[in-house]
Parts: sequence; structure tokens; C-alpha cells
Amino acid sequence: MSLSTTSGFRLLPGRLSPDQQKALLDEVLAKAQEAPFVHQVTPGGKPMSVAMTSFGPLGWTTDAKGYRYEPSHPTTGRFWPAIPTILTDLWTELADPHVPPDACLINFYNADARMGLHQDKDEADFRFPVLSVSLGDTAVFRLGGARRNDPTASMKLASGDVCLLAGASRLFHHGVDRILPGSSRLIPGGGRINLTLRRAAPSS
Ligand code: SIN
Ligand code: FE2
Repeated sequence: MSLSTTSGFRLLPGRLSPDQQKALLDEVLAKAQEAPFVHQVTPGGKPMSVAMTSFGPLGWTTDAKGYRYEPSHPTTGRFWPAIPTILTDLWTELADPHVPPDACLINFYNADARMGLHQDKDEADFRFPVLSVSLGDTAVFRLGGARRNDPTASMKLASGDVCLLAGASRLFHHGVDRILPGSSRLIPGGGRINLTLRRAAPSS
């Protein structure tokens, strides 16, 4: 079953099989040895409850200077690891068959982490969707509209679910109210990993 809306938002529950989830998790954890998860600081000076790293040519970064994409990790200074093939294949199938993603943001949520309502708008070209993959504990995800005070809907994102912010929904506000600790046994020690594929730089 999949949910598609006229806004272009798509939710594909269980798009990744348990074996695919495990393989992707193993790859993410191995690559996170090279590019560790960091609690970055917002431009306002607050440490984020979500720990982040990135894969691909560009990684999303925040610090006192603002939000932006950078070619290297903020603390190691090394280039980001490559985006896993299972994710670039999903992008080719679901997001864009011609232009590859150039950034994959990886968020790690422990039992107390959350993400406030925001728009993804640090990318150059909003014609490309944002493709999101959930692993581990279920998230209570909130999806609003283009304006900050538009009505919002809440939905659960479980391990293996894939969703797309495409079309008009590309600029919809969204966030994670909380995660449901203990809802998955995929990640040793619990927690949730969300991977979002983006096209950050102009495509030509
Ligand atoms: C994000 O908006 O970067 C993450 C969304 C999610 O964790 O599902
Ligand atoms: Fe986002």
C-alpha cells in the first residue's frame, strides 16, 4: 500500500525489506566510523538533539555562520563517505532518473530527540524531491503545508518506510514530534536513523 497525495507527498510503507534495512544499517554504521555523528549547533547557538552526519559530495552543516552544504565533515575535515548504492538506486527509481543526489543527510534520534517544524530550503533547485528512508524506532512525523501556520497532519514513519517530498510538498513544513522507543529492534541499543537524499547543488 502506498499513500500519494495531490500535493506530491508519497509514503511507501515497508519499501525496504528487513534484509535491506539491515544491510543499509550496517553500511551506515561502518561509514559513520569515518564520518562520526555530531550534535551540530543552530545559528542561534542551540545544540541539536538529533546527531547528524552526511554522505555524498555535499553534507548539510549548521553552526554560528548559518545553514549550508559543505564538502567536508565539520570536525574531521575529511570528505564525506559515498552515498550507499541502495539509496542512489531508490533515487533513480522514485525521484529523478537522470540527475543523481549529491547529498545524503543522516539523522540519529535517541529516545529524547526531536526535530522542530521546518522547511528543507538550503538546496539550489526545488524541482528535485527530498527522498527519506527510516530505520529503527518509529517516528511520529508531522507534515504541514507551505506556510508555517498551515494545518498539519501526524503520521508514523516505521523502519523501512520511504517517503518523498515532491512537487508542491517539496517545500512543506515537516518535523519529528518524537520517536517511539522500543518500537524496533533493528538498531543495537535502540534509536532511529533517518536518511534524506537531496540534490543540493544546481544540476548543470
Ligand atoms: C529531516 O527533516 O531532516 C528529517 C525528517 C525525519 O527524520 O524523518
Ligand atoms: Fe527536513
